[in-house]
Amino acid sequence: MSALLSLTYGFAFLISVLIPEVSSASVLTTNKRKFVLGDFRNLEFRSSYTFKGKRLINHVINATDAIDERFCRILCHSDYNGISYNFCLVVKLGGKEYDGDLESSPNYTYYGAQNACVNNECKNNATCQTGFTDRGYRCMCIPGFRGQDCKICVTILTVRKKEGKFNENKAYQLRVGNLSFLVYCHLSGTNLEPCGAGGWTLVMKIDGSKGTFHWGSNLWMNNQTFNSAGGQTGFDDEETKLPTYWGMPFTKICLGMKIGHQQKFIPVEKEANSLYSLISDGKYRRTSLGRNTWKSLIGTQASLQRECNKERFNVMTSVAHSKARIGVIANEQNNCNSCDSRIGFGTGGFPDDSNTCGNIALDGLRADNGNKRIKAVGYILIQ
Ligand SMILES: *[C@@H]1O[C@H](CO)[C@@H](O)[C@H](O)[C@H]1NC(C)=O
Ligand SMILES: *[C@@H]1O[C@H](CO)[C@@H](O)[C@H](O)[C@H]1NC(C)=O
Ligand SMILES: *[C@@H]1O[C@H](CO)[C@@H](O)[C@H](O)[C@H]1NC(C)=O
Ligand SMILES: *[C@@H]1O[C@H](CO)[C@@H](O)[C@H](O)[C@H]1NC(C)=O
Ligand SMILES: *[C@@H]1O[C@H](CO)[C@@H](O)[C@H](O)[C@H]1NC(C)=O
Repeated sequence: MSALLSLTYGFAFLISVLIPEVSSASVLTTNKRKFVLGDFRNLEFRSSYTFKGKRLINHVINATDAIDERFCRILCHSDYNGISYNFCLVVKLGGKEYDGDLESSPNYTYYGAQNACVNNECKNNATCQTGFTDRGYRCMCIPGFRGQDCKICVTILTVRKKEGKFNENKAYQLRVGNLSFLVYCHLSGTNLEPCGAGGWTLVMKIDGSKGTFHWGSNLWMNNQTFNSAGGQTGFDDEETKLPTYWGMPFTKICLGMKIGHQQKFIPVEKEANSLYSLISDGKYRRTSLGRNTWKSLIGTQASLQRECNKERFNVMTSVAHSKARIGVIANEQNNCNSCDSRIGFGTGGFPDDSNTCGNIALDGLRADNGNKRIKAVGYILIQ
C-alpha cells in the first residue's frame, strides 16, 4: 500500500499523508509515545494533537509516497522543519495556530507533535525547529547571525544600524539557554583596535592582582557566572565571568589588557562553540600570533625570555612554572621545561603565582626587556 505524504510549512511545519486505504489506520491508534530518531531530535506526538478524519492544509512542505504512518513519523523527524503530518493526516502545533486549516477529510488522520516553537524565541528571522536541545527547540540563523537565539552583540549592532539608532556601548539584554542577562556590548568606537569593528560581546574581566581567575580556578572549568554586575560595564577593574563564557559561539576573540591608563588589544582568529569549549578540558590549543603580538598587549614595558615561546589555550609545560589559560610562555634555555616568563590571562606558577593576568619576567633569567612584574586587568570579548 502506498500513501501520499504532503509535508507542509508555515510558522510551524507540517507533513501530511494521504492513504488511499483506510485499513492502514490500525497503525494510527498507538499515537501517544515519545519518538526518538537519531541522537538529536525528540518530537512528542500526543493523542490530544491527533485528529481522526482531519487533515491540515496550506502548510504542506513535502508530499511523497509513504508506506505507513510510521514512515511519515520518521520523515517528520528527519525533515527538521517538519512538526506534524497528515497520515491520512495532520498536525497540531501545541497551540491553536492552525485550527482554521484543519479540514475535514475522512481518509486522513492528523498527527501533531508538541511544538516548542510556539513562543518563537529565535531572533533575526531565524527558523525555529522544535525537538532539539534541552530547551526543546533550536534556532537556525540566517547567514551573518549567531548565538543560541541568533542574537549576540554583533546582531544587535546590525539591527540598530538598520533602524538608524545610535550604537551606544553599554549593557544589552542577551540570552544564553534559559538565562536572560545584561551584558556589555562594544558596538562603536576605535578603542579596541586592532580587533576591528562590528560589535563585541563581553565574556570575562580579570584583575591580575586577584586570585579569582588564577590558572587553577574552577571558574575556567564550570558554567558559573561570577559577578554579573561587572559584566554590565566596560573597561574598568570590575571582575566578571558571564554565561557568554560557555554559551556563545564565535569566530574571533579580542583580548585586552589595561595597565594604569593604558589599554591595548589584540585579535585572535579562532572559531569555537564557546570559550569554555576551548579551555575547560585542559587540552592545549594552538594560537599563532607570535611573541611580538603578545608583547604588544603590554606595550613598551613588555619583557619575555627568548626561547620556547609556546602560545596556546591551556599553555603549561611544567606545573610549577609559568602557565596560562590563554597566553604565551617563554624560557631562557632552548626548551620548554622550566618557563619562567609569560604574558597571559588566567596565569600562575613561578616566578609569581599571585599574578593571574599580565606579564612576568625576571632579569636574572635573561628576559629581553628586564625585570617585570606587571599585573594587568584583562578583558576577553568575542564576535
Ligand atoms: C520529500 O521527502 C522525501 C522523502 O524523505 C525526500 O526524498 C524529498 O527530497 C523531499 N522533498 C523535498 C522537496 O524536501
Ligand atoms: C476515501 O476512502 C474511500 C474508501 O476507501 C474511497 O472510496 C474514497 O475514494 C477515498 N477518498 C479519497 C479522497 O481518497
Ligand atoms: C527579517 O525579515 C524582514 C522581512 O523580510 C526584513 O524586513 C528584516 O530586515 C529582516 N531582518 C533581518 C535581521 O534580516
Ligand atoms: C534552566 O535550564 C537548566 C538546565 O537546562 C535547568 O536546570 C534550570 O532549572 C533552568 N532554569 C529555569 C529558571 O528554568
Ligand atoms: C557547560 O555548558 C556547555 C554548553 O551548554 C555544556 O556542553 C557543558 O556540559 C556544561 N558544563 C558543565 C560542567 O555544566
